[in-house]
Amino acid sequence: MNHEEAQRRIEALTRLILHHNQRYYQLDAPEISDADYDVLLRELQALEAQFPDLATPDSPTQRVGAPPLEKFGAVSHLTSMLSLANAFSDDEIREFDRRCRRLLERDAPIRYTVEPKLDGLAVNLRYERGALMVGSTRGDGTVGEDVTRNLRTISAIPLAIPRLPADIRPAAPDPPAVPETIEIRGEVCIERDAFLALNRRREEEGEAPFANPRNAAAGSLRQLDSRITARRPLTFFAYAVGTAQGTNLRTQGEVLRTLAAWGFTVNPLARQVEDIDGCLDFFRYIGGIRESLPYEIDGIVIKVDEIPLQERLGAVARSPRWALACKFAAIREETLIEDIVVQVGRTGVLTPVALMQPVRVGGVLVSRATLHNQDEIDRKDVRIGDRVLVQRAGDVIPEVVEVLKSHRQGTEKPFRMPEFCPECHSRVVRLDGEAAHRCIGMACPAQIRERIAHFASRGALDIEGLGEKMVAQLVSSGLVSDPADLFFLTKENLLSLERTADKSAGNLLAAIGSAKQPALDRLIFALGIRHVGEQTAKRLAFSLGTLTQLAAAGEDDLLKVRDVGPEVAAAIARFFREPANLRVIEKLRAAGVVPRPVEQPRTAALSGKTFLFTGTLSRMGRNEAKALVESLGGTVSNSVTKTTDYVVAGTDPGSKIRKAQQTGITILDEDAFLAMTKGE
Ligand code: IVH
Repeated sequence: MNHEEAQRRIEALTRLILHHNQRYYQLDAPEISDADYDVLLRELQALEAQFPDLATPDSPTQRVGAPPLEKFGAVSHLTSMLSLANAFSDDEIREFDRRCRRLLERDAPIRYTVEPKLDGLAVNLRYERGALMVGSTRGDGTVGEDVTRNLRTISAIPLAIPRLPADIRPAAPDPPAVPETIEIRGEVCIERDAFLALNRRREEEGEAPFANPRNAAAGSLRQLDSRITARRPLTFFAYAVGTAQGTNLRTQGEVLRTLAAWGFTVNPLARQVEDIDGCLDFFRYIGGIRESLPYEIDGIVIKVDEIPLQERLGAVARSPRWALACKFAAIREETLIEDIVVQVGRTGVLTPVALMQPVRVGGVLVSRATLHNQDEIDRKDVRIGDRVLVQRAGDVIPEVVEVLKSHRQGTEKPFRMPEFCPECHSRVVRLDGEAAHRCIGMACPAQIRERIAHFASRGALDIEGLGEKMVAQLVSSGLVSDPADLFFLTKENLLSLERTADKSAGNLLAAIGSAKQPALDRLIFALGIRHVGEQTAKRLAFSLGTLTQLAAAGEDDLLKVRDVGPEVAAAIARFFREPANLRVIEKLRAAGVVPRPVEQPRTAALSGKTFLFTGTLSRMGRNEAKALVESLGGTVSNSVTKTTDYVVAGTDPGSKIRKAQQTGITILDEDAFLAMTKGE
């Protein structure tokens, strides 16, 4: 392959891989198998190795996570990262403006930039000669943690500025020059919907959910294994520059416009206003639309727009005198913790839950809140009988934010995790390095109930009629102690349960009977292996083909499956080493449960083939045809060369067809081309 061909192929592969990344990570709807994806990625890696000058710093090969670190290194920020002074009322906001004008000895109004205050995690990105070199957390403002490898996995963070046109978003037509060294600052966040989906997935996988999007973003960014970060739906909004040698930015408005032109996401609600009244209007406006924004914010930030004025104002202590965070009053309500109970999950994790006097928080009645684990309870010092403030985090999940210690009467009772499981009285243990306490009882009815409910749930075997109450009855009556027992139930068994009528018993048996040929991935998910959610189950089913193969796979084989890291591989291998689990699988087989193999997604049918189009196609435009070829692993070229495999001729083909005929290249009409794309 010559240089020019390599360049074209690299561009095509880049577009293709970005397309499949989006299908896989954002839409959860992959179009090609992992193996085919790896073929594309490896081809790109090989070409970049062969033609190093064509390897761009923002190539998709640079975004795949890397193996775990022992710990994060320390990074000194070139310019320190200050924090902001807070204001909570109009009076305080006006006072800020008066002070600025006093210090600047100025009567005329000051122009400000106003921006939503995102509730995520501040990071600092250092670019040198346009390439992302170091990314770090804020830390103490002077020294932060080196999380470069994790930040590189976030697609909203350009690996090179200006973002190269090969990426999904086109760069602005004429972006300003990028200085030699520049620090770019902004907030890493998780949007609300993505946060809820992430928590659902964690619960399915037997993991504790995150309390709110901010914690989820922070937890995801501080992963030692960047492959885990790569799977988290993190986004990034840029809002400031630190050290910026050689730039001539005169206003904060200009800073934001420049960041956008370089390919960063800048909050679209940010604007310049003429005076402090404009700031107050914006504060009210954002307060009104706050709930409808896709991400969480906790206020607005106002910044003196002109940078020379910012410089004159300077900073006190750790905050600039030219900026102010105006915080919304949180929607919090006071209530009483009447009790703290413990729930036992499918994997035996004990979760303490506060039972509270019902209280309305932002229109929703709240009476329960998870307290997560003993460490959280100790950190907040929550006791039974305490008066507390609750708020809804991530809009839905109620959270105890603060104990009102001044209301204490001395009768409040501290909470201790029980030593024995409240359900089965087995010992409760806390494994090293885990925040969670777990019940180790294999026969714990709570775990059995949760396991069976999970087995029958929507994404698993989807057995209708197996609701919470029915499962509880089946388990407490001793009829069912593992998922396989479901398939041995008889009508008499069901009729022996309280309040089960003939008809509902019949319906349930029919539903169970029709779940006997589940798709393999659903069965794998249904087994409830730790860390194996629906997506991972799909990948395992695609790659290993049968349950027997999966059970026999060693950790090394499992690690070859896309997105399976060491922790997941170990959990799967551990699951299939456990004799009790193998017995359940054997029983399922004996009951006649036979999984259906999972169809591989469309393979890259045109992988490695180069097409040339000439003439007019009747059923699609050129661009559409090109996208189709690329989505199936092929390339489209504009001229007939040695590497052209097919020429697709529409009506009125041009001279290229003659050249193709002379060189003996296969010529396809539109029908033959379409048949080929369908693998016919
Ligand atoms: S500017 C000196 N702009 O708020 C100015 N900060 O307490 C530094 N934040 O740690 C920050 N949205 O994480 C700025 N539009 C925005 C912001 C913002 C959120 C956070 C940031 C910072 C904290 C300041």
